Amino acid sequence: MEASNSAGERPSPQVADDFGTGFDAHYLAAKKSIDDRALNRYVWTALCHALPQTTGAEPANIVEIGAGIGTMLARAVDWGLLNGPATYLATDCDAGHLRLARQYLAAWADERGSTLHWPEKQCGRLCTAQAEIALVFEAVRAEEIARRTESRGTFHLVIAHAVLDLIDLPAVLPGLLSQLTDNGLAYFTCNFDGATLFLPEYSGGEEQEILRRYHASMEARLTGASRTGRRLLSMLQGPGLELLAAGSSDWVIHPRNLTYSGDEVVFLHLLIAGVEQELSGKSGPPPPGLAAWARTRHRQVETGALTFLARNLDFLTRRRPSPP
Ligand SMILES: C[S@@+](CC[C@H](N)C(=O)[O-])C[C@H]1O[C@@H](n2cnc3c(N)ncnc32)[C@H](O)[C@@H]1O
Repeated sequence: MEASNSAGERPSPQVADDFGTGFDAHYLAAKKSIDDRALNRYVWTALCHALPQTTGAEPANIVEIGAGIGTMLARAVDWGLLNGPATYLATDCDAGHLRLARQYLAAWADERGSTLHWPEKQCGRLCTAQAEIALVFEAVRAEEIARRTESRGTFHLVIAHAVLDLIDLPAVLPGLLSQLTDNGLAYFTCNFDGATLFLPEYSGGEEQEILRRYHASMEARLTGASRTGRRLLSMLQGPGLELLAAGSSDWVIHPRNLTYSGDEVVFLHLLIAGVEQELSGKSGPPPPGLAAWARTRHRQVETGALTFLARNLDFLTRRRPSPP
């Protein structure tokens, strides 16, 4: 479940979206620590064990789709997944996000005393105490990557984090998985699975219809989008695939001593604003009480009274070797 766009008074991205996907860069930066907490550690650990078995002695060759501002790459280094030579192709349909990713990763590398150089415009070299990573940034849609024949069978790992609800899975998934080597891995995480909860219960009674319409708007954009998690749970057990690990990665945010972390505040405000914007008369009249609902929920963030949950699922699947 992805909130897009920002509330009027909230911070907006410094770089315009070239392709107009509308994901606020501040939302993506704030989401990082919420995702850190949510990501399923059992699935992550399975990935850490499986990747060296897949790569053998070769440098890991990784592609990420919908990479946004580069938070997953930072995490993969910080959490020790990348601890040797690797090539990391970070892609997104939004060139603006990839430009911000350069800034985000430069600041991140700086903080850790790592070096990040850009010998060419879209090609960087990241050296940390453990890892040496050739970085390539490419503004390209996942659909286009799935169609590529020249890179078929070459990636040890494809990553898609909080993006597959935006992609036509039956059309794109087979091509994406065909990019993997024999025993290549797909790590697909924070896949929204149909449940959103705000607490305390909304006294006006309109919230049920607002959330129903919000989920319906995802379906209107792409059939099945609001049930991406469970769809993947069955798709990733299809022919030629072995589901190695699966688990929940719910976003759960609640106040502590009537406050939140700075990231949680930004995330919650932008999420509420995203719901309001999505339903504000784009297709027919907005649901009754929408503006009052948003005002109440924003106020509850300010006063440390709001609790939020969204159900997500994580997966690690392996491409079985093709028969000789
Ligand atoms: C919710 S954001 C998640 C970004 C990043 N994975 C993260 O979690 O911070 C979704 C990202 O997918 C990108 N995106 C949307 N549709 C896409 C497509 N068809 N192909 C590639 N990227 C896409 C958006 O530009 C955006 O950066």
